[in-house]
Amino acid sequence: MKKIARRKFLEQMAIATPIAAIQPFHLIKSMKTSPADKIRIATIGMGIQGHYDTRSALKDPGVELVAVADLYQGRLDRAKADYGNQLFVTRDYREVLQRKDVDAVLIVTSDHWHGRIALDALAAGKHVYCEKPMVKQISEGLVVIEAWKKSGKTMQVGSQRISGSDAAEARRMIAAGDIGAINYMESNSDRFNSIGAWNYSIPPDASPATVDWDTFLGNAPKRPFDATRFFRWRNYRDYGTGVAGDLFVHLLTSTHYITNSMGPTRIYSSGGLYHWKDGRDVPDVLVSVMDYPQTAQHGAFQAVYRVNFANAGSINNSTRIIGDEGEILFGNGRLTLTKKKLAQAPGYGGYDSFFTFPEETQKEFVKQYDAKYPEDTRKAEPVKEIKYESPKGEDAHALHFLNFFDNIRKGSQGTIEDPEVGFRAAGPALACNESYFAQKVIHWDPVAMKLKKKK
Ligand SMILES: NC(=O)c1ccc[n+]([C@@H]2O[C@H](COP(=O)([O-])OP(=O)(O)OC[C@H]3O[C@@H](n4cnc5c(N)ncnc54)[C@H](O)[C@@H]3O)[C@@H](O)[C@H]2O)c1
Repeated sequence: MKKIARRKFLEQMAIATPIAAIQPFHLIKSMKTSPADKIRIATIGMGIQGHYDTRSALKDPGVELVAVADLYQGRLDRAKADYGNQLFVTRDYREVLQRKDVDAVLIVTSDHWHGRIALDALAAGKHVYCEKPMVKQISEGLVVIEAWKKSGKTMQVGSQRISGSDAAEARRMIAAGDIGAINYMESNSDRFNSIGAWNYSIPPDASPATVDWDTFLGNAPKRPFDATRFFRWRNYRDYGTGVAGDLFVHLLTSTHYITNSMGPTRIYSSGGLYHWKDGRDVPDVLVSVMDYPQTAQHGAFQAVYRVNFANAGSINNSTRIIGDEGEILFGNGRLTLTKKKLAQAPGYGGYDSFFTFPEETQKEFVKQYDAKYPEDTRKAEPVKEIKYESPKGEDAHALHFLNFFDNIRKGSQGTIEDPEVGFRAAGPALACNESYFAQKVIHWDPVAMKLKKKK
């Protein structure tokens, strides 16, 4: 990419350098792309997010779209209408992988195809941007990680929010000890509308002629063509990963990034299907409680993740991280740090046992208290509030892609959300479903990224 175009692009994005961009790469490969070369991408799965991902990727002027694969003819036609007749389109993603003019693929299919296509793409020598959750089954995670490591290719998972400077700022504050030792966090992603509850529009021409239904099913149980299942696949466990795989995974990725954590050890979910009883087989209200162990990076803390798709009350989606010296509250590019430190002296009186003592005992108590707690130990520091707002016009999605492409150009595998980071969020998110359906506590090894049997 030409230097001037690149500078302009960075200015347009109004970015503060994401933290990961200044971190050392853990692997440098000898397959650098010449900075003058365009990175040629293909999108596999040109549905809703396929469009958003492609647009965000193309904000980098050093990137060009050459091919699109999708199983619904209407989306291939739409892609040609949007990107030109020269675009190669196919229903068979393997034809995209065979093409020499494709450097990187964006995997934006329903969840049940992520792992398979990622493995095929890496084997075909492509760089991979894979939507979240990185895999549909916990058992696929380490297989993809292994294949990625062996391939030497760059792979980024798509929880783009961590590329926003609000996430970087929260991470910096936690690392600086601004809220003391974290002990609790809560994060939610509620909705109250039909489309938000995944009931996306179904095109009137949907039929076995316009949709490659057999391929869509993949390893899922065989069944006759069903347009609702194809266009609203999130509602079914055969193809999607429920609210945990769709939404908790974003919250988990952010939590892990901000607290520099590898993940929880204990996961428990509870909830139900209360409102959207439209044939779906996944809950519309889910709360998962997780225990994060003490590590060199942080103290032990509890995390509560929630999704309520039928929240007709006030919706205030945010993440609150609480420590013993304050809290960080953030969401939608805004962040508030509130610092609050306890006085050293515990105080007495008021709603306390002091007044229940006989007078002489009270006098003796006060004498001892005064001797133990001089004046300067009795006042708490004044509460301090610090606000942060992401730069106007900042586009975390484009920055996430920029991080992916920059690492391809450098020949590095060290993206901000490489497959290990991706699976450290996807594994516990998928475990939330396992906990919900089996009604049991799931034990997870966040270092080895494996389910653990309780001793
Ligand atoms: N990062 C984010 O913020 C974000 C937001 C929305 C969706 N997503 C993720 O993006 C993915 C797609 O979601 P969506 O809402 O765009 O779904 P969608 O149903 O709108 O689009 C999925 C497309 O994938 C195609 N597809 C499925 N299997 C395929 C295969 N084997 N080969 C080629 N094409 C195939 C389908 O034809 C469909 O058009 C999901 O994994 C979802 O979790 C991420």
